[in-house]
Amino acid sequence: MAAPTPTPADKFSFGLWTVGWNAQDQFGKASRPDLDPLEEVRKLKEIGAWGFTFHDNDLFPFGDEAAREKQIEGLKKAIDETGIVCEMVTTNTFTEPIFKDGAFTSNDRGVRRYGLRKVLKNVDLAGELGAKTFVMWGGREGAEYDSAKDLLAAHQRYAEGVDTVAGYIKDKGYDLRIAIEPKPNEPRGNIFLPSIGHALAFINELENGDIVGINPETGHEQMATLNYTHGLAQALWAGKLFHIDLNGQHGPMYDQDLVFGHGDLISAFFTVDLLENGFPSKPGAYEGARHFDYKPSRTEHLQGQWDSAIANMDMYLMLKERAQAFRADPEVQEAMAYSGIDTLGEPTLGEGETLEDLLSDRSAYEDFDVVAAGERNYGFVKLQQLAMQHLLGFRA
Ligand code: GCO
Ligand code: MN
Ligand code: MN
Repeated sequence: MAAPTPTPADKFSFGLWTVGWNAQDQFGKASRPDLDPLEEVRKLKEIGAWGFTFHDNDLFPFGDEAAREKQIEGLKKAIDETGIVCEMVTTNTFTEPIFKDGAFTSNDRGVRRYGLRKVLKNVDLAGELGAKTFVMWGGREGAEYDSAKDLLAAHQRYAEGVDTVAGYIKDKGYDLRIAIEPKPNEPRGNIFLPSIGHALAFINELENGDIVGINPETGHEQMATLNYTHGLAQALWAGKLFHIDLNGQHGPMYDQDLVFGHGDLISAFFTVDLLENGFPSKPGAYEGARHFDYKPSRTEHLQGQWDSAIANMDMYLMLKERAQAFRADPEVQEAMAYSGIDTLGEPTLGEGETLEDLLSDRSAYEDFDVVAAGERNYGFVKLQQLAMQHLLGFRA
């Protein structure tokens, strides 16, 4: 059985920093040449991607205004020629030494003001290119030592920064939404807004939070031993899933950025099941980009670099096919019904039922057969096994 071929309808997109990574790490030199970002954009289109994303400094070097103008012109040309979509833009506030203590939460007010200006300038670029999402990953917003920060002020400054950027987007009338990307650690010892839940709670405190959502990454949640699919579900429920970063990770260790599905495959299956099929009580596919934030392993040279990009799309499409077969299988539907999955969609209180009614309903408590309820077999293992049979190709 051949793996399906990606098409623009699949809405796959890649960060230029992903497939273009030259593999320089903390322990070793680059093992691959730098790619020309404009050639990379063209090549992404060739391999079947629908869109791409980038940091300002993936396209032009930090502080080089002349290069900025030239590269933006070149990028626009590549977009026109290929029809590829620039769906998201993000700002590098982590590579330069100036940002070693963060951009929005640095103890140095001058750095905070500079950081804000850099981000605002990049909002203009995102607007100019028609991107719909502006990701903010605060990799350097954090600390190694708890003594290093006024932690209350750090959260206030973080909120001030994001609110200022969101206010600017509104003032300018850009059709752009901010997506905050949580991560627990790396490069800082502890990063602020470490998980999906922290980021969602943070957004609730913002003045301009209506245009702020999140960009959860598979590996980041798994580094914190959290369930990525559950996190996506909560973000969807809150109407805040503005973007996604898909990749692979083997549990709590350094950020591996493996190909999507090359880490926790079972979790990847259920991520795709949610994105493609929706909730049993609210079916329907996620409408945003299927964006990959992975790194080609350092062992791979040019051929392997592109093979690994293709592997992300290949994994996704295979899982999509498997997840659709899983949901369509009558035996699975029967098992889901046995497990009571459909009845979780039913409100616990009846329509118009008051708290008084519940308190006086003897069948709900006094006469409820707690022994029988305790003896119920939910059948979740059987259902999971059916999912595994589909995942491994043992059921059509
Ligand atoms: C990481 C992050 C980044 C961000 C990117 C977009 O762990 O390095 O995932 O890759 O996604 O900077 O803002
Ligand atoms: Mn990451
Ligand atoms: Mn990411």
